[in-house]
Amino acid sequence: MSDPRPASLQAAAPWWRPSGGQALVIRGGRPLTGSYPISGAKNAVLPLMVSALLTPHLVTLHNVPASLDVAVLAALLQRLGVDMHWSNTAAGLSVTICADRVHPGNIDGDLVARMRASVLLLGALLARCGEARLPLPGGDAIGLRGIDFHLAGLRAMGADIDLASGLIHATARSGLRGADILLPQPSVGATESLLLAAVMARGTTVIRNAAREPEIVDLAQCLASMGGKISGAGSHAIVVEGGTTLAGAVHTVMPDRIELGTLACAAAVTNGEVLLRHGRTDLLGAALPVLQAAGVVLREVESGLIACRAKAGLAGVDIVTQPYPGFATDLQAPVMALLSVAKGVSAITETIFEQRFRHVGELSKMGADIAVHGRTARVRGVAGLRGAAVTCTDVRAAAALVIAGLGATGETILGDLDHLDRGYDRMAAKLAACGADIVRPDDRQP
Ligand code: EPU
Repeated sequence: MSDPRPASLQAAAPWWRPSGGQALVIRGGRPLTGSYPISGAKNAVLPLMVSALLTPHLVTLHNVPASLDVAVLAALLQRLGVDMHWSNTAAGLSVTICADRVHPGNIDGDLVARMRASVLLLGALLARCGEARLPLPGGDAIGLRGIDFHLAGLRAMGADIDLASGLIHATARSGLRGADILLPQPSVGATESLLLAAVMARGTTVIRNAAREPEIVDLAQCLASMGGKISGAGSHAIVVEGGTTLAGAVHTVMPDRIELGTLACAAAVTNGEVLLRHGRTDLLGAALPVLQAAGVVLREVESGLIACRAKAGLAGVDIVTQPYPGFATDLQAPVMALLSVAKGVSAITETIFEQRFRHVGELSKMGADIAVHGRTARVRGVAGLRGAAVTCTDVRAAAALVIAGLGATGETILGDLDHLDRGYDRMAAKLAACGADIVRPDDRQP
């Protein structure tokens, strides 16, 4: 699913390079050493970029990950009339977004189809323009992934929403109004959609059974520095006093806790020792005791976290994915790659998405011993994996296969790399700098 229109991405995100290379070749067995910079969080930066639609003033974001999803969202925002100025310094990628003019109807269906987070545009456009037209969003095929909670919440705030032939047409001609909304389950995206809509709506909005993920707190902090009146972000009930005219803001995107956990696994699987720059143990939350029990040693130092394998080796653990503060579904696949070479049996239960075990078949091609029964995967650790030709089936599956390939004997060839590029900022190049033998043969750079 290579990008059909690289020109539009490059126009909106000049740092983005069409990968050309649709395969990644890893010769495994080298311990990772040195320092790996953890980028800004993929799942924080996307709603943060959308928040800039709420104000005609400048919003500057620092620590932006240079990922394909960011480039796709930049192209979508550009189609809406938004200007973006990018700067790339030693401190990382920054963007200043100017949404003084917004044309709500001008959305590119091909781009929306590439990314689930495009649904966040709906609430923001309704709040800013009173109207939004959006094709139904795409994204990873990891489950049903409805948008009914987003739509019900926006309807409760006074939006009229029509769904016809794959298109969402939403209007709120006289503006959105605050509402008391109970989410059927703590959805990250729906909480973000409603938060974006509520800061400009008239009156008070309460989002109950809200998701509590740190990326939501990051969004609320940015909206608060724009003048939004929000309390309770990070708890089950978020209260927004709406109706504020929002100013500009300067905000630094939080570090990517999923990239952090993933690299900790990679360091342990390869029996290396890596400084994960900008990493902190508190970012890992429920994953910290799981990783430690599995034999990943994490030591906090001033510039980040040092990750390596415990002397006693890797050991099986049981995991159940849960909404935050539980164990993150986005770390399920990377940790499965780790546990597939740990001593003993691990049970991994996925409760968030119905189809998030597609990496099992790919790990099995590399010699992993994993059996899936309903929502639980039973992983019997093997002494080692062997390289194979495998396919990335979603963003986090791609990361799991990279970990597996780095630890395996022989050559692993990963196909369908857009999934890796969507979620990670130059992961192959950063791993190569830590001593990994990892190349994109038909690309200009790793
Ligand atoms: N759900 C509905 N209806 C809705 C919204 C959600 O049924 O209107 C269901 C989903 O189908 C799912 C559950 O509720 O079963 C939770 O979904 P949620 O809305 O929390 O997920 P999301 O907002 O679509 C975000 C991340 C995901 C991450 C999940 C859970 C972004 C852009 N995506 O998705 O990240 O797995 O929260 O933490 O923030 C990834 O990064 O690889 C990724 C998939």
